[in-house]
Amino acid sequence: MKILGVVGSKRKNGNTSILVQEALKPFESEDIETELIYIDNYNFRGCNGCEGCQDTYKCVIDDDMQKIYPKITASDAIILGSPAYFYNVSGDMKTFIDRLYCFEAFSKDDRSVWMSINEVLGVKYAAVVAVCEQKKVEDMGYTAEVLEKSLEALSYRVVSSVKAINLFSTGEASKDEKALKEAKVAGEKLLKTLELRQKIAKQLNN
Ligand SMILES: Cc1cc2nc3c(=O)[nH]c(=O)nc-3n(C[C@H](O)[C@H](O)[C@H](O)COP(=O)(O)O)c2cc1C
Repeated sequence: MKILGVVGSKRKNGNTSILVQEALKPFESEDIETELIYIDNYNFRGCNGCEGCQDTYKCVIDDDMQKIYPKITASDAIILGSPAYFYNVSGDMKTFIDRLYCFEAFSKDDRSVWMSINEVLGVKYAAVVAVCEQKKVEDMGYTAEVLEKSLEALSYRVVSSVKAINLFSTGEASKDEKALKEAKVAGEKLLKTLELRQKIAKQLNN
């Protein structure tokens, strides 16, 4: 089992990073392999809409996303975290999500017929972490929804969605017991989901 955490904030010690790491802790306690990546450490550009991926399900752009694709493919679950930037995910996170277009496939003669490659290879699981500075959850706008819906389109079942509010300064989340607890519980639920999946698979194979 392998879990990938993806941080969409350039603040490496920021709130998103802290909460995504907290959500990974339940896996680390069980010695399950985890990897945390910061989008900002990779150099890649936006999807250019060339449709070059549509025959191979591989992106044709030769940049650092090519280092991230194998990590996504190899992981059983993903935890995506983003700060709210103008009621939406950060630009880095949006660029990252757009580059996952190569994991979707469309019928050539009817664009309304489409699926993700995970529908063929097997559903995956996810948790999301959205962070904002304002005190009302509405002020994070579509941040959590964008993370959730994008993952769902890629056939990830999103089992937990953390919406952490009232966090502004870098690292403030490390003192926010409520947000830390929510992130940990989100990770625990993702872990329990994967364990249940393993148990059912084992029973079915007997
Ligand atoms: C460009 C920009 C836009 C932001 N937009 C919002 C917003 O729409 N709503 C909100 O509540 N906070 C907003 N914030 C605040 C951040 O979401 C908040 O500081 C968050 O804790 C940053 O997370 P990080 O520490 O992981 O970078 C914005 C911050 C920046 C820099």
